[in-house]
Amino acid sequence: MTDSADSFDTIVIGAGAAGLFCAGVAGQLGLHVLLLDHGERVAEKIRISGGGRCNFTNRELDPRAPHRHFLGENPQFCRSALSRYTPQDFIALVQKHGIAFHEKHKGQLFGDRSSEDFIRMLQAECGAGGVVHRQPCSVKAIRAVEGVERYEVDTDQGTVRSRHLVIATGGLSIPKIGATDFGYRVAKQFGLRMVEPRPALVPLTFDGDAWAPYSQLAGLALPVAIETGEKKQRMVFHEDLLFTHRGLSGPAVLQISSYWRDGQPIRVDLMPDVDIGARLLHAKATSRKRVANELAALVPTRLADAWAGQDPAWQRPVNEASDKSLAALADRLSNWTLVPSGSEGYRKAEVTAGGVDTRDLSSQTLESKQPGLYFIGEVVDVTGWLGGYNFQWAWASGYAAAQAM
Ligand code: FDA
Repeated sequence: MTDSADSFDTIVIGAGAAGLFCAGVAGQLGLHVLLLDHGERVAEKIRISGGGRCNFTNRELDPRAPHRHFLGENPQFCRSALSRYTPQDFIALVQKHGIAFHEKHKGQLFGDRSSEDFIRMLQAECGAGGVVHRQPCSVKAIRAVEGVERYEVDTDQGTVRSRHLVIATGGLSIPKIGATDFGYRVAKQFGLRMVEPRPALVPLTFDGDAWAPYSQLAGLALPVAIETGEKKQRMVFHEDLLFTHRGLSGPAVLQISSYWRDGQPIRVDLMPDVDIGARLLHAKATSRKRVANELAALVPTRLADAWAGQDPAWQRPVNEASDKSLAALADRLSNWTLVPSGSEGYRKAEVTAGGVDTRDLSSQTLESKQPGLYFIGEVVDVTGWLGGYNFQWAWASGYAAAQAM
């Protein structure tokens, strides 16, 4: 333990989910910790997360099979940290603080009241660990120096020193609430490798002309199966899809966007629970309704009208449509294949995929190959699915680093 006002055992840069949690744990383990953040307000992403209620973890997370819910160049990297700090551990902390929560969908846990409850909880944990928290405080430069205190950090409030330096500055998504490439620059400064960052959990967009027939559907949501990739790379999600003015969103699309790469097609089954080919042939034999009306029994009317309107062969009573045209319509509904022109980018992305290359980090401690320098949370090339997985990574990686210092 050190005692000068400018000297600390550990400096954590970034008071978001990972940084706040790591600082609290390290402080309670007896380390003298300084937590710095350049933002006006603490933990803005927790504040806006989960629609203001914070989807703080997921009960379905299986630390033994991290590739099921996490992606990155090495999806096994997060296994060690996730096994040593589990959703159950974080739930116990939430219960200790008396925060009421509920399960919404597929193991996703949300606060009953507000994300603020979780921010207050993390601040209280920092308080219990005697963490010194300076915010807003900008970092101007970082240096590795000789001696026990291996790092010097120049800030707009003076120079501070420490044995351990933890980078918890997150990814590039939502720059308007303080996201920066700071962590990536620090990684480069110390010769660590990077995996090219890209927006993930993000709405996908389409060229204006190609999208014109569908833009009238903006606001419409329905459950679908969505997939991208071929063979071993193929990923499928069963979730809700939302039409927007510029393209597609909703949980189905956010999930698939993390796996989608430029130029690749996505395939959507708009009626995943129905054998639509058989239904249309049955209708042909038994009904005189228009094709659009038959479809409207299965999907929202606006969607039925938009699909049937795409081909004159489908704009007639179903008994007058040819088998071939009905088979083509069934294929168009169950295997709608389209190539996004891009995504809504970091402005709308919930997370950043890619980041500090895990080959240069210890999976046990999150320490980099530069001794005493740690990277935790979203700045690392570990990206979780939608549904509380990214916060669980923030907690688990912060815990692993705190235990190691
Ligand atoms: P985080 O982004 O939380 O914190 C980084 C901190 O570093 C910020 O406080 C920032 O100000 C600071 N910083 C950046 N640059 C700096 C610099 N140069 N100097 C000093 N400080 C700097 N996940 C989930 O599991 N459940 C959910 O419900 C949601 N919901 C959600 C909604 C929305 C709209 C978004 C954008 C994201 C989510 N997420 C989510 C994702 C989740 O918020 C995200 O993965 C974690 O907050 C990442 O935690 P970190 O601590 O790594 O970064």
